[in-house]
Amino acid sequence: MKEVSKEVAIASYLQEGEIKGMPYLAGMFAPVDKEITAENLKVEGEIPRDFAGMYVRNSPNPKYRPKRKHNWFDGDGMLHGVHIENGKATYRNRYVRTQALAMEDQAGEALYNSIIEMPDFSLPGKHSASLKDTGNTDLIFHNGNLKALWWLSGDPYSIKLPELETLGADNLKGELKRNMAAHAKVCPLTGDLMFYDFDMRPPYLTYGVVDKNGNLKHYVPIDLPGYRMQHDMAITPNYSILFDLPLYWDTEAMKRGKFMSMFNKDLPSRFGIIPRFGQSHEIRWFEAPTVFIYHMVNAYELNENELVMHACTIDKPILPKGEESDAPTIGFMQLEPKLAKYVFNLKTGKTTTYEILDDVWNEFPIINTQKMGLQNRFSYNCRFAHNSELLFDALIKYDYQQNSSKHYEYGEHRYGSEAAFAPRNNAQSEDDGYLVTFVYDGRNDTSVLEIIDAQNFEKGAVAKIHIPQRVPIGFHACWVNQAEMMAVAQ
Ligand SMILES: [Fe+2]
Repeated sequence: MKEVSKEVAIASYLQEGEIKGMPYLAGMFAPVDKEITAENLKVEGEIPRDFAGMYVRNSPNPKYRPKRKHNWFDGDGMLHGVHIENGKATYRNRYVRTQALAMEDQAGEALYNSIIEMPDFSLPGKHSASLKDTGNTDLIFHNGNLKALWWLSGDPYSIKLPELETLGADNLKGELKRNMAAHAKVCPLTGDLMFYDFDMRPPYLTYGVVDKNGNLKHYVPIDLPGYRMQHDMAITPNYSILFDLPLYWDTEAMKRGKFMSMFNKDLPSRFGIIPRFGQSHEIRWFEAPTVFIYHMVNAYELNENELVMHACTIDKPILPKGEESDAPTIGFMQLEPKLAKYVFNLKTGKTTTYEILDDVWNEFPIINTQKMGLQNRFSYNCRFAHNSELLFDALIKYDYQQNSSKHYEYGEHRYGSEAAFAPRNNAQSEDDGYLVTFVYDGRNDTSVLEIIDAQNFEKGAVAKIHIPQRVPIGFHACWVNQAEMMAVAQ
């Protein structure tokens, strides 16, 4: 396996040689110390003038030296954003200023344990387990507001654009009694936001709907047989799909003082389909082969009886003892995701299709968000590099109509981020626009923002915007059109 050099950078609070066991604090993953604003960025090629808006990407960026262990998922949220307007670009990076980060700022050191250690239950925490709510995972634009979300369910933090200033936790006008997890979904037809929250205490899962004006309209507990690690959900115009996948922290072992993760391959995967405004008892569960899913691609109603969902599925999210794999890992998590198709039949109550569509390891899928919950033709997924840590060496454009794919490779020692689809002004078709993504170059420890014409995908970037500092590899991204940003400003 090709090893990427880890000599380039290291978290500033670590000494040389301390990095063993903390690979996600080194090289292209190393956190940055400075929050900067840079205007009129240098551009290779030309920024197209037929689109405008802001690409923002979330990432873990631990501000303080870890107390003991470190996992990539631990770091404080940091947003890296590039605002593009009239062919010019401005870059900003800012921490998501969470309550937990404020506590650590006051202490001047890390207070919280890693997610791979027994939590310190004396600390305030979300997810009932005194874990650090970092807001480091996902971004969703809803009700004129960008929200930073945390994968383990936390406060949705409102972010001001284009400044990336944290406005505070949004508790939905006082109505959000628990949390909101990463990967809430916005319906392009109604502006409704569908979300879930999961916890170690019952109810293990809740589901809610927020209307386009930010009012909590619906909120119900979902009955699960026990605590489950959740990471995504799907929507269609009439339904939401919630997951029951057998990966979890062993809460019984935690009572004995042991911190253990489990993947129970003896349990099936189950997908709960509930009407958008359905009550708890209206959810119907569809069984399927045992996998774990970080991210689904999209779901849609094929007809009145059948729902289709595409997702990146993993057979062995925790490698069994004694087995070896070339797949990247994040702590105890093993990543071998493949693109799969599900069909759920509402008439028979059966999963009629579970089919792997591509053997290439890929994840972090995105679509044109105007197709969220509707039949999409395209998705854009990140291809895994052959490396022990998670890196993306190419972007794949999947065509579900033609059953084909195209790969745009970033080039040697260059690694991308999750892309976002930015529509061209007055776009005429689903792929009429640009893919925007940060690309890190390991040869000189620099980063650019690449703009790729989605209809001329294999030709590569039409413009490369030079970012005046390294942008560490990170998590999820979004694109906010200039018109949406301006509507908020007025
Ligand atoms: Fe995610």
